[in-house]
Amino acid sequence: MMRHLLSASDLSYEQALLILDTAQEMAKVSESSVKKLPTLRGRTIVNLFFEDSTRTRISFEAAAKRLSADVINFSAKGSSVSKGESLKDTAQTLQAMGADAVIIRHGSSGAAKRLADSHWTSGAVINAGDGTHEHPTQALLDAFTIRKHLHVGVGDLRGLTIAIVGDILHSRVARSNVILLSLLGAQVILVAPPTLLPLGVEAWPAQISYDLDSVLPQVDAVMMLRVQQERMADFFFPTAREYSHYFGLNRRRLSSLKSNAIIMHPGPMNRGLEITAEVADSARSVILEQVTNGVSVRMAVLYLLLAGAPSGDIEGSVQV
Ligand code: NCD
Repeated sequence: MMRHLLSASDLSYEQALLILDTAQEMAKVSESSVKKLPTLRGRTIVNLFFEDSTRTRISFEAAAKRLSADVINFSAKGSSVSKGESLKDTAQTLQAMGADAVIIRHGSSGAAKRLADSHWTSGAVINAGDGTHEHPTQALLDAFTIRKHLHVGVGDLRGLTIAIVGDILHSRVARSNVILLSLLGAQVILVAPPTLLPLGVEAWPAQISYDLDSVLPQVDAVMMLRVQQERMADFFFPTAREYSHYFGLNRRRLSSLKSNAIIMHPGPMNRGLEITAEVADSARSVILEQVTNGVSVRMAVLYLLLAGAPSGDIEGSVQV
């Protein structure tokens, strides 16, 4: 395993599958009555969150605790960062506390790599979302969820077609997913208005469409993205109503999907904008399962980065 997880492109095909297979073992731990392994006992994991987060931070915290690590949660609000302390000073302070891994979310693209390349911390760095750049553990949990539903939990994603719909421009989730899903052999179709596609998107390993209705009947999974209004300084579409009309997932569109196709969203959702409440809560939606799977996938990532075990044999490598 590599030392850090900064981008989905850090992963080889074999490493990506190893994480998914290990996550499957971890899911068994989460399902049992005692949800804990002693694997990372005595290790310190820091959640360093400079941007707001609910799911991702809690998910990493639950994952670390299920592996018996000590967890320090650091959020920039209410800390010395709001007094102007830099990433460097914050990281050095955490290093002084002996962090074995730093999970970082930051508003600037490249912040996780900056931390990993520096000598500010000697721990493993895991990117939990850097600006509009990447969010590799989200892509891993999405791949895990797709595999669980559509390939009965084994192998890669060959033969599957997945649509990623909406605000691709601002989405680190989309970037990481395009890399990982294509690595695993899936065909990815990006669906968005031209204004919400990034420059150079033609070079990505994905097809591009502006027409959601023509794409939906072909796909096995449809991943809706949040319209990231907080990152929008300009107008990217005329009105919310028009956006929903062309790019929102609603009951009518749901009926055009294949019978076993699943609906995904990384959260948080703008209900009524990119997805109706009815669709988000429908039987086809695996949105809450994505959250559950996130814990297993993050346990696998922490375990493989920190415990350095070569295979999914968790119990065997535990030292009590
Ligand atoms: C995403 C994120 O923060 O990048 N959410 C998440 O991690 N669950 C997507 C988003 O904010 O829309």
